[in-house]
Amino acid sequence: MKNPVIVLMIALLGIPFAVAGEDPIQQREELMEETRDALKPLGAMAKGERDFDAEVVNASFAVWKRAGAQFGDLFPEGSESGGGTEAKSTIWTDREGFDRALAEFNEAVDKAMAAQPGSVDELKPVLGGVTKTCKGCHDGYRVKDD
Ligand code: HEC
Repeated sequence: MKNPVIVLMIALLGIPFAVAGEDPIQQREELMEETRDALKPLGAMAKGERDFDAEVVNASFAVWKRAGAQFGDLFPEGSESGGGTEAKSTIWTDREGFDRALAEFNEAVDKAMAAQPGSVDELKPVLGGVTKTCKGCHDGYRVKDD
C-alpha cells in the first residue's frame, strides 16, 4: 500500500462505516429489533396460529441469550439522546435497577432454555416468564412501549 492516494481513499471510505458500526444507539436498537423478531414466531405458536417447532423455539432462545449478554454494554455515557433513541434517562440515573431488569430477563431466558419445551403447553409458561421481563424493563427504562 505505497500509493498515498489509495491509502487516503481507503481512509475516507472506511470512516463512515466504522462510525456507523460502532454507534451504540443503533446497535442496541438493532439488538432489540432482533429480540422482537425472535418473539414473533413463538407468540404465534402460543396463540395456535403456527405449529410448535422446537428448532424455531431454540433459535429464538439463542437470539435472546446473545442479546442479553450484549445489551448492557450499549448504554455508555453520552448515548443518552440522539439517533431516535427511546432509552429513558433512568438507565443512567438508576443503573442498578436497569442492570437488575436485565438480569431478570437473562434469568427468564436461562430458565426457558433449561426447560427445553417440547410442546406449546410447555412453551407458554416459560414464554410468559420472558415477556414479563420485557415489559418490566420497558416500563422503567424505555420511553414508549409497542
Ligand atoms: C433490560 C431492559 C430491557 C429488556 C429486558 C428488554 N428491552 Fe426492549 N428496549 C429496552 C430499551 C432501553 C429500549 C430503547 C433502546 C433505544 O431506543 O435506545 C428498547 C427497545 C425495544 C424495541 C424498539 C427497538 C427500536 O427499533 O427502536 C423493541 C421492539 C423491543 N425493545 C422489544 C423487546 C422485547 C420483545 C423484549 C423481550 C423479549 C425486550 N425488548 C426486552 C430495554 C429492554
